[in-house]
Amino acid sequence: MIFQSVKFEKIKIPNGLTVKCVLRADGLKSEATVPYGTSAGKYEVSCFSNFGLDAAIKNFPDLKGKSFKTLNSLEKEILRYDSERFVKIGGNLVLALSVAFLRLKAKLEGKELFNFFSGKRVPNQLGKVVGGGKHAPKGPDFQEFLIYSDKPFKHAVNLNKMFHKRLGAVLGVKTLDLEGGWVVNLSEEKVLDKIADLRDDSFPEIKIGLDIAASSFYKKGRYYYKNRVIGGKSQLDYVNGLIKKYDLFYVEDPFHEDDFDSFAELQAKSKNCLVCGDDLLVTNPDRLWRAVGKSSCRAAIVKPNQIGLLSKMSEFVKDCKKNRVQPVFSHRSKESFDDWLADMSVGTKMMKMGIVGKERESKIKRLSKIVF
Ligand code: PGA
Ligand code: ZN
Repeated sequence: MIFQSVKFEKIKIPNGLTVKCVLRADGLKSEATVPYGTSAGKYEVSCFSNFGLDAAIKNFPDLKGKSFKTLNSLEKEILRYDSERFVKIGGNLVLALSVAFLRLKAKLEGKELFNFFSGKRVPNQLGKVVGGGKHAPKGPDFQEFLIYSDKPFKHAVNLNKMFHKRLGAVLGVKTLDLEGGWVVNLSEEKVLDKIADLRDDSFPEIKIGLDIAASSFYKKGRYYYKNRVIGGKSQLDYVNGLIKKYDLFYVEDPFHEDDFDSFAELQAKSKNCLVCGDDLLVTNPDRLWRAVGKSSCRAAIVKPNQIGLLSKMSEFVKDCKKNRVQPVFSHRSKESFDDWLADMSVGTKMMKMGIVGKERESKIKRLSKIVF
């Protein structure tokens, strides 16, 4: 494929500003937009470079006239201009170009984008119903209260929608957070009580999960809750207690992003719960190997822009599957309307995605078209 032009545009998204790549090659055109996060992990690559989005666009190498057969050759060329942290050209720009490249390649070869990612199933939605932490500072300290069911895809999506609506009525609130979760001024245990009551009353098939995003309220050995400050051991006991009390099937980032050992201790104590690493792993195969070595978790968040390189992301997903760690593709809080994440998640069991908001529904719509 011979590149005629690569253009990056700043584009408004519901919660911010991000970058879109427009690629022209072999007489065809393709586009891709990449989201970013509010509670980004400290080991993520630099999404808009260390100098801002304008500088990243300016620093990006001119690839006009160059020819690339594979994504690997494109990534290799890009890595001549920056380190893998993408401090000069920004991981979001690298990823936007890579997705645009694959879309164009799919067109040329008469394929769908998901054909470049392996598997023959679509994931069910791990949906957000209540927000807190950095996504909703007026809400509880935990960032995300999540629901999931094992029902067939479309039925599961409808269940999540109904649950979200009913819960809003139960809580008596109208405000939504960045990812479409309800914002309510209650403690995390009170929120869990409401969710568990609704499940017990009317939704027996629903399972409950959490993204604690603990790094966002951790400082020098302590977890700073609104009404108390606790150490690592108390955090372990507290989360383990919640798992038992509410029969939680999934808990993401219960500890800060360097604490592989506490993750392992919790996973060993709560064998039926999927302890999941997000900020802990940042879609980085090297960090995944550390987690596998210590048995830190049985699930791993996959956010392509945490790592920037799709080759690394695919390696991460493959290594997860090889080591019985469940890969969970995830949206970001500053999400775009683009739906490529859906294609990449094909072959996995569960995808974390908001239940309401057009930028989130676009991925669910795309998955419902793909359903095998
Ligand atoms: P972020 O949050 O997109 O704001 O980083 C999502 C998450 O932590 O899962
Ligand atoms: Zn998370």
